[in-house]
Amino acid sequence: MPVNDLTTTLNDGVELPMIGYGVWQILPETVTTTRVLDALSAGYRLVDTAAAYGNERGVGDAVRDFGRDNVFVTSKLWNPHHGRDATLRAFDATMDALGFDVLDLYLVHWPMPGVDLYVETWRTLVELRNSGRVRSIGVSNFHPEHLDRLAAETDTVPSVNQIEIHPFLQQRELRDDLQHRGIFAQAWSPLGAGALLSDPEVGRTAAEVGASPAQVVLRWLLDEGVGVLPRSGNPARIVENLRLDEVRLDPVHAVALRGLDRGLRTGPHPDTFTG
Ligand code: A2P
Repeated sequence: MPVNDLTTTLNDGVELPMIGYGVWQILPETVTTTRVLDALSAGYRLVDTAAAYGNERGVGDAVRDFGRDNVFVTSKLWNPHHGRDATLRAFDATMDALGFDVLDLYLVHWPMPGVDLYVETWRTLVELRNSGRVRSIGVSNFHPEHLDRLAAETDTVPSVNQIEIHPFLQQRELRDDLQHRGIFAQAWSPLGAGALLSDPEVGRTAAEVGASPAQVVLRWLLDEGVGVLPRSGNPARIVENLRLDEVRLDPVHAVALRGLDRGLRTGPHPDTFTG
């Protein structure tokens, strides 16, 4: 099956495309709209935005222009808006910016354990899901102790945990934990914010299989069952990142990429980040 048609079925029955276009830092919003239209025309069927990215309106314009029906859109609740009332207001603002009646996936962007409102915030997402305004709900950057609290204090397991995953930060333990809980692992910065692209091992593999370094990393993550959200502001690279059908990695290549794990985080640490 072509990569752009690959989906996974989440624990609530919703079908999530395995590859999506990430729009962090794709600005200003006129550019967001153009790039999202480039991505949708290339065949992407998932667009991943967030209130914090400041481009939900640009995403919404592109998706409504292209045709809302066949596009899966994710957005995320930003950090200052934890707590029931603020979450409800923030969700309304997101929907207003996107111009949609129903959102596909809404995530709590960071747990902010120091603020300790993520359980109440999660209950509010459950309310929103039950009201039909969002099809699926999940979290981002959550660790097992945060998920334990959701399991102990609420009756709903998140469908997705979107975390930083790439060959330099493979998150094996956390991914095993998510699998046991039935939570899908989706990777932000699957290219290590670009850091992987100059790695000699990735370069060697790319030369051997006749693909680009970015394509090798994305194919490897998909082969591992991880959802990927590559981000690019360049139309040619947006297309390149979806052209993975001909990219085949042998077990020896897969093992070589597994060997690159070094705990290298390109983003903030979930235990301390407050935005
Ligand atoms: P650009 O926007 O100029 O394409 P990540 O998705 O891991 O956060 O990585 C994003 C970074 O990787 C961006 O700097 C982006 O730059 C770069 N990038 C994305 N796709 C490719 C590609 N196919 N080849 C080279 N660089 C890429």
